[in-house]
Amino acid sequence: MNEFVSDIQAIRERARRHIEEGAITPSYGADKDVVVRLLNEALATELVCTLRYKRHYYTARGLTSAGVAAEFLEHANEEQLHADQIAERIVQLGGEPDFSPDTLTARSHAEYVEGNSLPEMIKEDLVAERIAIESYRDIVQYLGNHDSTTRRLMEEILAKEEEHAEDLLSLIQELRLDIIGSTQPPPAT
Ligand SMILES: [Fe+2]
Ligand SMILES: [Fe+2]
Repeated sequence: MNEFVSDIQAIRERARRHIEEGAITPSYGADKDVVVRLLNEALATELVCTLRYKRHYYTARGLTSAGVAAEFLEHANEEQLHADQIAERIVQLGGEPDFSPDTLTARSHAEYVEGNSLPEMIKEDLVAERIAIESYRDIVQYLGNHDSTTRRLMEEILAKEEEHAEDLLSLIQELRLDIIGSTQPPPAT
């Protein structure tokens, strides 16, 4: 006899209980409320990043080559996709995705900075990506093996944010923008 048979019977019985919980079965190892809260913070971050990149896309068009604006638009669309994926997972976990504009910036990890010049926009976008990278890495670590589906999703999004940061750094180098130094404290005299 297959030693898994009794387990399968138990799994079948457990699966019939609490079917209203959908994808959440008794072996779900994470604290669902905490995961939903973290995902809602990530959702707010993605929405704020989408809005910031859109603003930069539309206002950068008059400032420089179409290439930079195109990069902003591409990032905006990818952040929107991340927001959609995160909202979908929140619902799958039985939570409520929070799209409320009233509290969006307070819940977002990254900030909404309009930027008055192209270098400022690129710098602010890079800072926002670095914030997302750090906080998503923390979420991935927290999830560990307790909720591998959410962890995989956040790992995929994290990889994309790392790509975005790299794109922005390449832009800074291509355009020879002198903004790296401006983020450092002034040297001591
Ligand atoms: Fe994103
Ligand atoms: Fe990003």
